[in-house]
Amino acid sequence: MGISVRHLLGIEQLTPTDITTILDLAESYVDLNRQANKHSNILAGLTQINMFFENSTRTQASFELAGKRMGADVMNMALGASSIKKGETLIDTALTLNAMNPDLLVVRHPQSGAVDLLSEKVNCAVLNAGDGRHEHPTQALLDALTIRRAKGRLHRLSVAICGDIAHSRVARSNIFLLNKMESRIRLIAPQTLLPVGIDKFGVEVFHDMNEGLEGVDVVMMLRLQRERMDGAFIPSEREYYHRWGLDAKKLANAKPDAIIMHPGPMNRGVEIDGDIADDVTRSVIQEQVEMGVAVRMAAMHLLADGLRATKQEDATC
Ligand code: NCD
Repeated sequence: MGISVRHLLGIEQLTPTDITTILDLAESYVDLNRQANKHSNILAGLTQINMFFENSTRTQASFELAGKRMGADVMNMALGASSIKKGETLIDTALTLNAMNPDLLVVRHPQSGAVDLLSEKVNCAVLNAGDGRHEHPTQALLDALTIRRAKGRLHRLSVAICGDIAHSRVARSNIFLLNKMESRIRLIAPQTLLPVGIDKFGVEVFHDMNEGLEGVDVVMMLRLQRERMDGAFIPSEREYYHRWGLDAKKLANAKPDAIIMHPGPMNRGVEIDGDIADDVTRSVIQEQVEMGVAVRMAAMHLLADGLRATKQEDATC
């Protein structure tokens, strides 16, 4: 079974069936990744290039490991040292790489829409590893896998997404995904950290943590993304923690078995209390990282199947 897209640019373009297909296949990779021998040869002979125009720890490591475990030739572009610094445009860099015949291109870029643009210029499958404030599809998929494993389903759950929503591609991709899978979404944030036009997103908005967390199944915290802010959006970190940071008292409003999530990197004592983040009876933050590798393996596997099918069709034409 395949998926309906050639590239993984965002959750917006996926159908609920695509999402389920990716998550079901990812389950088999969770099993593989827990074995001593973690190798498959699904991507053998294929070339994967990771282009990160923005810093990343877990996403880049996760894509690299995913490709290597499936037997691809993986290359990480050291963009600090590349022609980007010499003024080459994104498109020229893409065309240069395209001439090397990669099969999978994993791209993170600070500008929203840059990855979509790039996908129009190359012949391979492109995976968006986060573009500006736009989308971060593999993060939403790994979050969904984590939720599905903890709660047994993705529909009819109440999920709170809290904090800096305005600057968060993780929030946008999660909103698309949870809406498609028919869960209820609550956004909890100060007015200054909500995107304009949020009312069109099919969400409920709260400006108070205690109220917003009442009875939820999942609490997803977001990092204050200072690198994307121009100007001051909050009075002070201390004040922010007091009103919006997740601590035991605020968490007591959620269901007793509610899980706690965070995409990382975390600011302990700013958006989340360190002890809560480390409480393995509630927090699934480490599991999210584990699911990240499996979901990226599944996504690249399905896109590679699509590539092979297209090549076969071309050959028989
Ligand atoms: C997120 C990102 O880069 O958008 N992190 C991640 O991919 N693990 C969230 C963030 O940076 O806060």
